[in-house]
Amino acid sequence: MMRPLIPRCGSALRAAAMQSRRPLLTNTWQTAAVSAQRSYSIQAKAASDIKQQPLDASKLVVEKTHHQKALKKPEELIFGRNFTDHMLTIEWNAETGWLAPKITPYQNLSLDPATCVFHYAFECFEGMKAYKDAKGQVRLFRPDKNMARFNKSAARIALPTFDSDALTQLISTFTKLESRFIPDARGYSLYLRPTMIGTQKTLGVGPPGSALLYVIASPVGPYYPTGFKAVSLEATDYAVRAWPGGVGDKKLGANYAPCIVPQREAMSRGFQQNLWLFGEEEYVTEVGTMNFFVAIKNKKTGQKELITAPLDGTILEGVTRDSILTLARERLVPEGWKVEERKFTMKEMDEAASEGRLIEAFGAGTAAIVSPVRAISWRGKLVNCGLKEHEESGELTMRVKNWMEGIQYGDEEHEWSYVC
Ligand SMILES: Cc1ncc(COP(=O)(O)O)c(C=O)c1O
Repeated sequence: MMRPLIPRCGSALRAAAMQSRRPLLTNTWQTAAVSAQRSYSIQAKAASDIKQQPLDASKLVVEKTHHQKALKKPEELIFGRNFTDHMLTIEWNAETGWLAPKITPYQNLSLDPATCVFHYAFECFEGMKAYKDAKGQVRLFRPDKNMARFNKSAARIALPTFDSDALTQLISTFTKLESRFIPDARGYSLYLRPTMIGTQKTLGVGPPGSALLYVIASPVGPYYPTGFKAVSLEATDYAVRAWPGGVGDKKLGANYAPCIVPQREAMSRGFQQNLWLFGEEEYVTEVGTMNFFVAIKNKKTGQKELITAPLDGTILEGVTRDSILTLARERLVPEGWKVEERKFTMKEMDEAASEGRLIEAFGAGTAAIVSPVRAISWRGKLVNCGLKEHEESGELTMRVKNWMEGIQYGDEEHEWSYVC
């Protein structure tokens, strides 16, 4: 979109007229001459010093729906199927920057079939939740972490970055508006999906000249409605989720679709998820779409160790992962545990299991908080992850879940909990 820079064009015209020693035009010719000059000079300006507008939460415009949706019974909620009444949208373009944020009734997007998101996957997203506390207040959990990761993902695929505090404020306003959708029972929450897409209509491969940031919300029930159910995994080496120098540490939509076929294959063999291995050493990286933790007893010292893979560029920087590490350092280390971010292999886990040193293993992510692991299929054998047959979760996994929920639902006042 061109910005009308009429005064500058006028002076450009005057300068041109002076140079050619001709009088300034004052009739309809003048209009034609101005337009010709204008587009020339505006382009030069746009390329040099037009300052982009930052994301400004105070410019929010709210248009409420006239047709409120009926609330589903909490027990009927299915993850990601039902959405709230409204959505938050913010447009961006390279010339202006961020436009005024809007909350509007939830609606379809209308995009040209040539829009770059459909062809070159200019898309990144976040996953976070809002919880209702005992007083009915709505709380987010560490939204600053999600905003920081969202900005890193966007920057990696040439989408615009934004002011994290401004988006947190907007999400907070949006979430409060939709709070009637959050059942006030433990385990229930409102899943928030901030998303950014490149919207420029072009088949040319290049940085998108325009983008749309939007946030939608879906009420969700507990991941394990009837209590923990331990999962079995297939150690996957024939397909690789992420690699050094790649983008596996960013939350790009393009990382997820290629994982579905390996997951379907694992399921066809009776395993719920893939345990993603990397390299000849078979380093353990992540499980499905979660970070992975294992608790083992050290072979030499017998000390209990909680281990997760380091952030080496192949691991998503999970907010749950970071929270568990922090809480475990505070709460487990005084009990004699060692908490480590380090590379570990499938062989090391197998050895620990066969020597009775593997205490427990779990996945960690916003959706489930923690997901206990029963066994891992690896090289034709089943590596047992420490649970007895009648158990669905280890003691540590259960403790971690309670720590996290205590903060998320505001039972424990904590700086990570953001009251909307
Ligand atoms: C690949 C992957 N790893 C880990 C996680 C866990 O991240 P978080 O704890 O921020 O939900 C996710 C989250 O969806 C993920 O997609």
